[in-house]
Amino acid sequence: MRIVVARRTHVAALAALMVASPLLRRYGVTPRRARASLNEALRSRDTIVAALDGADVQGLAWLIVTRALDRSAYLRLLLVADGERSRGLGASLLADAERRVRLTGSRHIVALVTTTNRRARSFYSRHGYRRVGVLRSFARPAIDEALYVKSLGASAERSKARIREAGGARSLSRLDVRSTSRARTR
Ligand SMILES: CC(C)(COP(=O)(O)OP(=O)(O)OC[C@H]1O[C@@H](n2cnc3c(N)ncnc32)[C@H](O)[C@@H]1OP(=O)(O)O)[C@@H](O)C(=O)NCCC(=O)NCCS
Repeated sequence: MRIVVARRTHVAALAALMVASPLLRRYGVTPRRARASLNEALRSRDTIVAALDGADVQGLAWLIVTRALDRSAYLRLLLVADGERSRGLGASLLADAERRVRLTGSRHIVALVTTTNRRARSFYSRHGYRRVGVLRSFARPAIDEALYVKSLGASAERSKARIREAGGARSLSRLDVRSTSRARTR
């Protein structure tokens, strides 16, 4: 297995992987929409890394690096083919994505996880992501998203200090919004 940066030649296989996911079908992903959003991602210079076994795509991690939210990178999708799970592929893709994010100077990684997706929620928790809030009916009506954040490097220490100052993790989501808007109006 090797992890490569996806190019246009991988789009058809990546789209097939997405369409095969029952989770993504709940979000209205169809072959045409999957190809369109992947092509848009590559045009917009998102980073998509693909786990390949020969020409076979077994998984992907899709990153959008932004200056928003105190320089957060958005992990838009982490997906491993059904038959390839629980072998460490998700962990390898996440590690590769985090390494790339660090190189961009991003301070945090954020991800949305369907609240009913217990397996992915425990996966992210094990990998150091904190659940900081829930966005109700956010991407699709009647589907709630848990918002996960992992702070990287020096900013991780800053975030911990903010949590201590605020008196605990419960107030973190409100605190993050306040401190971000302060930073952006300076
Ligand atoms: C979440 C997801 C990416 C994890 O991928 P994965 O390849 O199964 O992840 P890993 O193998 O690294 O770790 C998952 C499990 O394998 C176990 N594991 C990891 N390496 C292992 C190994 N070498 N041998 C045996 N088990 C191992 C872990 O303990 C973990 O257990 P659990 O999930 O049963 O609690 C995958 O389940 C998925 O694609 N889900 C659908 C899409 C999704 O929900 N994405 C997240 C929101 S964007």
